[in-house]
Order: sequence, then C-alpha cells, then structure tokens
Amino acid sequence: MDVDALTFLRRDHQSVLGMLEVLDGAPRGDGAVESGLDTMVTNLIIAESQHEAIEEQFFWPAVRHWLDNGNAMADYAVAQEQAGKKLLQRLEDGKPGEPDYHDALEEFITAARKHIAYEQDDVWPRMAELVTEEELEKIGAKMEAAKKVAPTRPHPMTPPNAVVQKTMGLGASTVDHVRDAVTGRDEKNPPDAPKP
Ligand SMILES: [Fe+2]
Ligand SMILES: [Fe+2]
Repeated sequence: MDVDALTFLRRDHQSVLGMLEVLDGAPRGDGAVESGLDTMVTNLIIAESQHEAIEEQFFWPAVRHWLDNGNAMADYAVAQEQAGKKLLQRLEDGKPGEPDYHDALEEFITAARKHIAYEQDDVWPRMAELVTEEELEKIGAKMEAAKKVAPTRPHPMTPPNAVVQKTMGLGASTVDHVRDAVTGRDEKNPPDAPKP
C-alpha cells in the first residue's frame, strides 16, 4: 500500500525538524568552520529544496482543489516557502563564519518551524477531514516518485506553481543532479538524511 500524502510529508518534517534542532545555536565565527556546519547546512538545503518542490507540484494543487479556503491557505504557505528559499539561497551562496550566513541560518530556523507548524496545525487537519484516504494515497504515491528527481537546490527565482515546477523545475533539477554528481555533493550529502 502506498504511503498517504500526510504521512509522506510528516516524515520529511520530522527529519527537517531534527536538523533544525541540531543547527539551532550553531557556533559563529571560527568555531563554525570546524563544526561541520557546512555539511549539515547542505543536507538541510537538499532536504528542504526537495520537500518544498514536491509540495508545490502535488500538495498545494490538492489543497486548492479540495478545501473551500484552499487558495488562501496555499497562497500563504507558498509565500512562506518562497521566503524560505531566498534564505536557503543565501546559505548556498555563503560560508560558515560569514555574518550573513549565520543571520540567514537563524532566520531560516525560525521561519521553517513556523511554516511547518502552519502546514501541520492549520492545513493537514482540514485535508485529513475532507479528502479520502484513497485520494491521499494517490497524492502520496506521486510525491514518492517525484522525490527521486526533485531539485536539490532552492531555485528562489523559479515560479512556485505546479506546472512550472514539473516542467522548467525538472530542467533545473537535472542540472542540480549533474552538479551534485560532478562535485561529489550527492555522496557527501545523501538526499535522504537519516531520520532522527
Ligand atoms: Fe512547505
Ligand atoms: Fe512541508
């Protein structure tokens, strides 16, 4: 049996929340470089980029379709995701020890916890109430398949709508995976980070 959409997303959230816990209060300055912060942050960027891209491809269209106030909820959440991607891009462009890198990380930790709480506390209960288990499993299966080819970088300039994410987004994702293979980023940073 396929895993349903909410179970699929919950696993991702638990993994990301675990990473945020480890990264919260990460050392600044010289200690940051030695602490392996770089690798941990790269894992976070990969996990988050894939997760939000998959939500934008399959989850938000379902929310828009099934919930009366789905458009408002999806618009609010996608705006949070776009803001998050800009912070992740600052991390992608920066280095541990740089003040902007640590500012972006702190901002991201706060924003990501808020975003996850919004999805879990406000959106998911409505979906669980109004969408059949069978339908949630169909969405889950699509998300599971999409994870293998999801982008591993934030792409804040790519529009967050489902059609663009599935087409243009896929091109960007291919480039990501080629870059990961060439740079060894995929070996050092497995896309499925260990679950806490
Ligand atoms: Fe999200
Ligand atoms: Fe999420």
